[in-house]
Amino acid sequence: MTASAGVRRRIDALRSEIEQHNYRYYVLDEPTVPDIEYDRLMHELQSLEAVHPDLITSSSPTQRVGAKPESAFGSVRHAEPMLSLNNAFADADVEDFDRRARERLDLEEIDYVVEPKLDGLAVSIHYEAGLLVRGATRGDGVNGEDVTLNVRTMRSVPLRLLGSDFPASLEIRGEVFMSKQGFAALNDRQRKAGEKLYVNPRNAAAGSLRQLDPQVTANRPLEMFCYAVGRVADGDVALTQAQVLDCLQRWGLRVCPENLVVSGAQGCLDAYRVILNKRDALPYEIDGVVYKVNRVDQQQQLGNISRAPRWALAHKFPAQEKRTRVAGIDVQVGRTGAITPVARLDPVFVGGVTVSNATLHNPAEIERLDIRIGDAVVVRRAGDVIPEVVSVIKEQRPAHTRKFRFPTRCPECKSEILYEGEGIIARCSGGLYCDAQRKESIKHFASRRAMDIEGLGSKLVEQLVDEECIRDVADLYGLSIDKLVALDRMGPKSAENLLSAIDRSKHTSLARFLFALGISQVGESTAQALATTYPEFDTLMAADVEALQGIPDIGPVVAQSIRSFFDQDHNREVIDKLRAAGVNWPLTEVEQSSATPLRGMTFVLTGSMDNMTRDHAKRQLQSLGAKVSDSVSAKTDYVVTGDSPGSKLAKAHKLGVTVMDEEEFVEFLAKHRTA
Ligand code: IVH
Repeated sequence: MTASAGVRRRIDALRSEIEQHNYRYYVLDEPTVPDIEYDRLMHELQSLEAVHPDLITSSSPTQRVGAKPESAFGSVRHAEPMLSLNNAFADADVEDFDRRARERLDLEEIDYVVEPKLDGLAVSIHYEAGLLVRGATRGDGVNGEDVTLNVRTMRSVPLRLLGSDFPASLEIRGEVFMSKQGFAALNDRQRKAGEKLYVNPRNAAAGSLRQLDPQVTANRPLEMFCYAVGRVADGDVALTQAQVLDCLQRWGLRVCPENLVVSGAQGCLDAYRVILNKRDALPYEIDGVVYKVNRVDQQQQLGNISRAPRWALAHKFPAQEKRTRVAGIDVQVGRTGAITPVARLDPVFVGGVTVSNATLHNPAEIERLDIRIGDAVVVRRAGDVIPEVVSVIKEQRPAHTRKFRFPTRCPECKSEILYEGEGIIARCSGGLYCDAQRKESIKHFASRRAMDIEGLGSKLVEQLVDEECIRDVADLYGLSIDKLVALDRMGPKSAENLLSAIDRSKHTSLARFLFALGISQVGESTAQALATTYPEFDTLMAADVEALQGIPDIGPVVAQSIRSFFDQDHNREVIDKLRAAGVNWPLTEVEQSSATPLRGMTFVLTGSMDNMTRDHAKRQLQSLGAKVSDSVSAKTDYVVTGDSPGSKLAKAHKLGVTVMDEEEFVEFLAKHRTA
């Protein structure tokens, strides 16, 4: 049926009216119509669109929930990196921050906006000509996941901006979170449905936003507060952060109502206390406040340092502490065999989660705390940190507490427990013979930040090892449908899904792969540094401790740990098996050339330099991919000379090899390091 002008007008009017109601309800929190009236408008719009499908637009309020996409989220490169914030824990940190900013700007006093630090996940949303075109997670700050379809389902995010004075292209940043109440309701529903429970509102928000099916996300109580603009088409949005927040709100975006404008460090600290006092009464979780220099020109003058702005600072709230009772003490065997004592507690709600286990770190800590089973204790949890026992309330020690005897044998494989560093570390000597260690290393390998094998959780790994389906990570790639369906509670569909997740994980990045190997002391950022310096895995495996130490942030202990890992035959075997199974990491051209700018070049060092040892110079060169040789030959590209260079210099001259003195060498290094 062709629509009359009247129908078109009615549809437009309904959409505008519904958007206004959404705005009042979700953004301003001041609804002006009863739900039933809102439902009536939606219903009328849906009926008209059903008759005139050609008039449906993707920004219509009826079009929030789209169809489930075929495959996983695409990746989005942020037009400008999504920065993180430096943290302050004490008042003095805030005073320092303010002083440094004043010195740089040469000002007596600076105005700040103080905002609650929302405990959710940072998300970027992008509008073109006022229409929502993209939503992306922060990811690693440079690349995030495309969650457009899921962001569209969130009612507090307008599909169309209000007004008309917004930039043609506008990227906005903010926090997606779940209210305390929304979180409780969701977990209630999950429990009734026998589904997994989320540990806190932040995880629930992240888990809900990362659902493949937008229908699922649509039913999750996700909210968003906006707090910044990213890339904008034409110039700055406003002159101050306070005005930015006003603009955002005018354009229909939701802004946290607790933001304050203050002057100087003292103003910041006062605002911190005001917001801290409100913390428990707020309907959502916050874990601190964020101070932001108010004037945008001052922000620009201050700029960023590495990945955090100099004009903003997060001031964390103190970790929360609660009292409870120790019901028991056990030990857990970790991925590297470290045996950690764990206190089993009467559950308490602290720092936003229910805590029923707390780490006791090591045998020495048990002595230090003098903790006994039955004791009353104070437990603490801050941010993502594992909960820990702060102290034992000795005055309240009941009559019949029991001391814990540290086991002498591994609870899993019964191998002897060895002690290192005066009881600081207890380690199972079983190595890969120990099932617990194997399970932990497989769990780590499969985890999201490592090989990201969806569906391969703790329980399943334990089952696979217990049933002797796998012994190491490489065996994962040899699993078959038949083996899997033979397991308890594993249907053919889940088995297939798991196998395709395992198959997908074969295409990875070198950094992820290195992290996944679980080399002791090698976390994500070290893995990244290794991959950047040695884009070729075989060169990395061959690198000696010295060369490894030339990589930024890698000290002797980490270097040694990496070397020992690659020296062990069974590790090499597993790596060979993984590569034979098809695990691979494509290198971009940029990576190939930028990571090791001096690859293929040979250097000879001779004589002593004023400002660096020869060792240091050698490591610097190696970390950039160069070879350092002892004797000058026709293959030598450069000879670097210090004082009293000797015969090598003469030979260099004879062969026509380029010679650099110390000053030239330092410049040369600097140039290639940043190339
Ligand atoms: S501003 C350069 N404002 O904190 C500006 N961040 O550690 C960077 N966050 O990833 C962000 N509340 O997820 C900003 N009011 C707020 C915030 C906030 C929470 C989070 C955000 C970011 C992290 C930075």
